[in-house]
Amino acid sequence: MQKLEVFGAKKLRGQIKISGSKNASLPILASTILSNKKIFLYNLPKVKDIETMLILLESLGSKIKKKKDKIIIDNSKQKKTFASYSLVKTMRAGILVLGPLLAKFGKAKVSSPGGCSIGVRPIDIHLKALSKLGAKFKMSEGYVIASAPKGLKGSKIHFPKISVGATENLIIASCFAKGTTTLSNCAIEPEIEDLVKFLKSMGCNIKWIAKRKLKIIGIKDVKESKYSVMFDRIEAGTYLIAAAITQGNIKIYNIVPKIIKTEIDILRKIGATIKVKKNLVHIIGSKKIIKANIKTAPYPGFPTDLQAQMMVLLCKANKKSLIIEDIFENRFMHAAELNRMGAKIFIKGNKAIVNGNIDFAPAELMATDLRASVSLILAALCAKGRSIINRIYHLDRGYESIEKKLEKVGAKIRRLN
Ligand code: UD1
Repeated sequence: MQKLEVFGAKKLRGQIKISGSKNASLPILASTILSNKKIFLYNLPKVKDIETMLILLESLGSKIKKKKDKIIIDNSKQKKTFASYSLVKTMRAGILVLGPLLAKFGKAKVSSPGGCSIGVRPIDIHLKALSKLGAKFKMSEGYVIASAPKGLKGSKIHFPKISVGATENLIIASCFAKGTTTLSNCAIEPEIEDLVKFLKSMGCNIKWIAKRKLKIIGIKDVKESKYSVMFDRIEAGTYLIAAAITQGNIKIYNIVPKIIKTEIDILRKIGATIKVKKNLVHIIGSKKIIKANIKTAPYPGFPTDLQAQMMVLLCKANKKSLIIEDIFENRFMHAAELNRMGAKIFIKGNKAIVNGNIDFAPAELMATDLRASVSLILAALCAKGRSIINRIYHLDRGYESIEKKLEKVGAKIRRLN
């Protein structure tokens, strides 16, 4: 099993190109199921979750050509409606094929994704909302068996809780539901906006009518589309934190800075100097890191996917900080590993008290999920000496060429087989 070896305490300096967004690419790829025409997608990140989604689409009958800068998808012969456990278990976003399969074929059998290390992660909101469009569900041997023999029908849906995945599944399904659908209390993550833009590029009739409310008028067919996926705001935030934590000097580019305003504002508050240009953010880390209290929340709040990375930074702050994790119930697995490196983090329910002024000591570490893995790299980057991070397959699910990008800005990091 591959590992990463990191020799810390080096100041990072240089430029990092941010890849396309994993979390925008996944629903966009799932939504291509609606189409019988060619689709050209640009800026997809080269990460394992995208490979898995492409394999899932191929297992449904999609013809996919990978070119240097794009992927061409042809679903004209795609007829299968079965998404297997072996694919969905490795990538929960597999559930995003449920909406489009139901919309196009009126049936689907999709493995239920089950929980994961960060929480139970149910799909009840997806299923209840799809039922409102006329779908019927039964569960059998771990699979969701869905049908809508007469096709989906537009409806008024209010999500009881903000859910990124449920909003995405419903937006896609509603594009082919007969008549008008309104979706309220939608997630408004930038990745949702990117999905909406992509669907519109195929001719779907979607309109924001209030801050968290969409109106979708069903259509019967979509047209050919060429689309470039947005940048990965979590990857961007991770490298900004890497710079702040190592007192580095880094420019990240290929981004839209206003999308990461919340993160930039917090990093400024903790003491980093940040200059924002059109497609670029320049950060200079400061020696003194000021404490901060953070609560994760749906966009435009602070993202749960950056909580682990921020925790590492706050271990270096001048005083005690408080982190409240308000999205997932079990997302502090990294704290125990960080404590093994000398951190003093105390967890109580969904709150973490993070003591500051920590000098991380190098250690052999175990990654538990995607963002936890990267937080261990960040801690290793500022620990003097050699750290080893095991189980990095989690990392490869969502970070493109992370060791190469970090090496380019001066980190001493390599992959061991
Ligand atoms: C997506 C992101 C993930 C991010 C999360 C929150 C992708 C592929 N993944 O995950 O990286 O951390 O948004 O920003 O884009 N919930 C229910 N019932 C449901 C659905 C969700 O109770 O049917 C709960 C979840 O357990 C969680 C909360 O709602 O507590 C938010 O989850 P959700 O926004 O759906 O996250 P995902 O779409 O799974």
